Amino acid sequence: MALSQATELLLASTVFCLVFWVVRAWQPWVPKGLKSPPGPWGWPLLGHVLTLGKNPHLVLARLSQRYGDVLQIRIGSTPVLVLSGLDTIRQALVQQGDDFKGRPDLYSFTLITDGHSMTFSPDSGPVWAARRRLAQNALNTFSIASDPASSSSCYLEDHVREEAEALISRLQEQMAEVGSFDPYNQVVLSVAKVIGAMCFGQRFPKESEEMISIIRNTHDFVESAISTNPVDFFPILQYFPTPALQRFKAFNQKFVQFLQKIIQEHYQDFDENSIQDITGALLKHCKKGSRANGSHIPREKIVSLINDIFGAGLDTVTTAISWSLMYLVKNPEKQRKIQEELDTVIGRARQPQLSDRLQLPYLEAFILEIFRHSSFVPFNLPRSTTRDTTLNGFYIPRKHFVFINQWQVNHDQKVWGDPFEFRPERFLTADGTAINKTLSEKVMIFGLGKRRCIGEVLAKWEIFLFLAILLQQLEFSVPAGVKVDLTPIYGLTMKHPRCEHVQARPRFSIK
Ligand code: HEM
Ligand SMILES: *[C@@H]1O[C@H](CO)[C@@H](O)[C@H](O)[C@H]1NC(C)=O
Ligand SMILES: *[C@@H]1O[C@H](CO)[C@@H](O)[C@H](O)[C@H]1NC(C)=O
Repeated sequence: MALSQATELLLASTVFCLVFWVVRAWQPWVPKGLKSPPGPWGWPLLGHVLTLGKNPHLVLARLSQRYGDVLQIRIGSTPVLVLSGLDTIRQALVQQGDDFKGRPDLYSFTLITDGHSMTFSPDSGPVWAARRRLAQNALNTFSIASDPASSSSCYLEDHVREEAEALISRLQEQMAEVGSFDPYNQVVLSVAKVIGAMCFGQRFPKESEEMISIIRNTHDFVESAISTNPVDFFPILQYFPTPALQRFKAFNQKFVQFLQKIIQEHYQDFDENSIQDITGALLKHCKKGSRANGSHIPREKIVSLINDIFGAGLDTVTTAISWSLMYLVKNPEKQRKIQEELDTVIGRARQPQLSDRLQLPYLEAFILEIFRHSSFVPFNLPRSTTRDTTLNGFYIPRKHFVFINQWQVNHDQKVWGDPFEFRPERFLTADGTAINKTLSEKVMIFGLGKRRCIGEVLAKWEIFLFLAILLQQLEFSVPAGVKVDLTPIYGLTMKHPRCEHVQARPRFSIK
């Protein structure tokens, strides 16, 4: 008798404790006068995974119309803050920049560059800050800073001019042999050679099977390096790797091996007095003793910055140029307007150059509209809070997961009026001779604040120069009857469906 009563009592108190714990877990502690951010009801254990589906940026943009700029969902048992609206995002990432500069500690991040990545690692302290400064300096020196040894304005300009001409020849060969081409596969090789030259100088392989196989398969990376990767929220999935996770692991291994070999060669004939590329600059920093403002950076954390720079500089710029070509064949009248502008401002006797940028506002407006309309980087990389904070009156505890919906900012009805129209003209001032700066600053694709992209200027200049040189000489099209599908495929960077039917014809014969 006494025993069963004791058992009952034990059972009852266990159930009570469990219920109490569940309620506590669902309603976290919030200081007086503040509220938790609102959000829809979610399933126990799963949270909102099923709601997010295949296109989380679209679902979360819709939810923001109902719940506002600061809302909360759950993935598995992890609460996730979702920010929308440019003003709210600016408040968080810029005004309260230090609160929101963290990155979450994710399983998938440990697979990238053996866990040494600066971009994809939870560190946001002094070592991260020193690495970021170092990467930014080395990158600028060998891309956009003026190059004293050359007649062109900078390394970037030299490399892009060379590779754009090579690309034009390759496209014409393909046209002669096959009659059409897949723009992605052609563009990725050119962009790889540009970022390869800036990172490694002469040591970047001209053409090797290994290199081609890596650069053509970055989708194995971007399909998994997403804010919503299930393996980061349901750790048990680590032991049941999906095909996508296996592709991701294999890609990361091949990528590190490939770059490691080039860096090793570089190290052997490294000459401190003649630094000619980003790797050289980083190796020099290793030798110097890596004390940047008192924070020691371990050697492998310096060398692995190359992986961050090469990876980011390859995939994003390729995706942007490739999307541009798809929009051009879909909108031939916009292509004609860009070409008319090129003919008027530059003519046909000389090649376009970086310094022509301000005189070519229509091309500039076209690039801005590609960023906005495609929003091919739909979310910032995942962020996390570094301390307890508040935003718009809502309480957000430390180490809280944060998604920032760039796609929503770029398609906000209140800002753009007709967000789904592809209309470069929207960025021109009334007389059409310049870019409306107020409006162009409302496009969000490079992130904001302390983690903002370090390659923004380089990327904008590179995309501009490639397109200007290509469009001066070639007209892009698809044969009548070919349907061009521009539905983005969700990922860290969103790609367009591949199309093998793109054609290019010379606009005039070159003497
Ligand atoms: C159109 C091209 C590009 C786009 C749309 C883009 C976009 C982004 C975005 C959204 C972030 C995350 C920012 C955040 O969390 O707020 C980022 C970070 C970063 N980007 Fe880019 N990027 C581009 C090109 C480049 C290039 C060319 C490089 C270097 C060669 C680069 C290097 C980086 C690095 C190193 C970070 C990490 C910064 C950190 O964690 O502190 N990106 N980029
Ligand atoms: C770190 O040092 C550099 C130059 O040595 C300086 O420009 C920078 O302001 C310093 N940063 C901090 C946080 O002290
Ligand atoms: C720029 O765009 C904004 C918003 O559409 C508009 O209010 C402003 O008048 C424009 N400025 C110029 C110089 O055209």
